[in-house]
Amino acid sequence: MEKDVYILGIETSCDETAAAIVKNGTEIVSNVVASQIESHRRFGGVVPEIASRHHVEQMTIVLEQAFAEAEVTWESIDAIAVTEGPGLVGALLVGVNAAKGAAFAKQKPLVGVHHIAGHIYANRLEQEFEFPLLALIVSGGHTELVLMRDHGNYELIGETRDDAAGEAYDKVARMLDLPYPGGPGIDRLAAEGEESITFPRAWLDEGSYDFSFSGLKSSVINTIHNGKQRGDELKAADIAASFQASVVDVLTAKTVKAAKAHNVKQVIVAGGVAANKGLRTAMEEQFARAEIPLLIPPLQLCTDNAAMIAAAGAVAYEQEKRSELDLNAHASLELH
Ligand code: KG4
Ligand code: ZN
Repeated sequence: MEKDVYILGIETSCDETAAAIVKNGTEIVSNVVASQIESHRRFGGVVPEIASRHHVEQMTIVLEQAFAEAEVTWESIDAIAVTEGPGLVGALLVGVNAAKGAAFAKQKPLVGVHHIAGHIYANRLEQEFEFPLLALIVSGGHTELVLMRDHGNYELIGETRDDAAGEAYDKVARMLDLPYPGGPGIDRLAAEGEESITFPRAWLDEGSYDFSFSGLKSSVINTIHNGKQRGDELKAADIAASFQASVVDVLTAKTVKAAKAHNVKQVIVAGGVAANKGLRTAMEEQFARAEIPLLIPPLQLCTDNAAMIAAAGAVAYEQEKRSELDLNAHASLELH
């Protein structure tokens, strides 16, 4: 029987300090996330300096907890996987340095992981992949369509040209006086409202799988301003429902089109916005109709965590990809 492989994952790219241990790339042994949302909320968004400081404070605690919960010792760890980018550089550096320090002290191989690869691999903790597969990554920083023909093989076929979907959610939420992060609040309001306003849908050029959300965001902001000036009270729930309908329409239609064009065997939706109920429902309906299996991870695996980094790292480790101790953090890193 082959020996089990244990990967320690570390993630600090944004506002969650996370450490996890994953067995054989598919099984969560422990998954610890320390969220900083409360600290950033009063600023209405993530403040990079505050994020870095919290990561420094939390990193060791989270690591110790990941080992304690897993009941696994350092000796059993085969490699350390860490998010090397993209993200906030000061935040990433904390995780990268923790991983490098541990790799050196414990003499373990080091594997740098792309944050988006992590979001995709969150799904493998639920179900084995079948290729080719198409992944839609929708988070606060990303809106991307990635085609995978095999493990560890990523082809970016579409991306946002301006704001990420989550960013649009957060900005519109701010206009509606909802707390940060705004996605969950809009999602909740949207369920109570009617799609009474037709906001634009940015389809972009024929055949393109790229996205654009800044026009939609401006249109929502203008509608709110104009409404106020006219003294015409628009219901926040209707604005949320109308905004969400536009985002969901474009995301769903482009993903279905790309999935069919590439004849994929599976479709994955990942990242924080994958928690969105409206998006989940629309995707489930569309892919049931297209008869293509759809995978959406449970909520705690949609948002940033380290189990997903360990899962992606496990594949890179098996493929003998290694990082050296000069590994650096990269705010914008190409998917590789
Ligand atoms: O993946 P994630 O945790 O962090 C990044 O890597 O960015 O995604 C965070 C984003 C935020 O913009 C947040 O508003 C959004 O995910 N989000 C949602 C929902 N839950 C979180 N957006 C829409 N609907 C939700 N239910
Ligand atoms: Zn993320």
